[in-house]
Amino acid sequence: MTLLTWNHACTINVRAMDDQHGILMDTMNELRQTVVRGRGREEICALLDRLIEFTRMHFWSEEQLMEQSGFPGLADHRAEHHSMLAQMMQAAHRVQYGEAVPMRQLLCSLRSGYIEHIEGPDRQYGPWLNEHGVY
Ligand SMILES: [Fe+2]
Ligand SMILES: [Fe+2]
Repeated sequence: MTLLTWNHACTINVRAMDDQHGILMDTMNELRQTVVRGRGREEICALLDRLIEFTRMHFWSEEQLMEQSGFPGLADHRAEHHSMLAQMMQAAHRVQYGEAVPMRQLLCSLRSGYIEHIEGPDRQYGPWLNEHGVY
């Protein structure tokens, strides 16, 4: 399980969103460290909660920007946010209630989910927002 690091493909070119993606990756890395060090369920749950809360705020920020600029792909993007959050909350719930969740596997799927979303749908709204004066 590797650390999440920045690369060119992760840049949206909208400063506030790039900053938020950086915080998301830092939080994911922190969660990874917690798992690798074999910390307890309580600590892992607290970090998962933090990740979910930040993700919720981030998704809302993106949707606001897309809505304000009339981005045509908003409905699909919002649906994807909704499904990502639902999956995260379901996983966090299972961890919280003591199910034997394979944490490394969970982290890998969270990680690839974020990367694919940022490099896919998120990169599509960047140029549109830039054209509408948002950087
Ligand atoms: Fe994003
Ligand atoms: Fe997004």
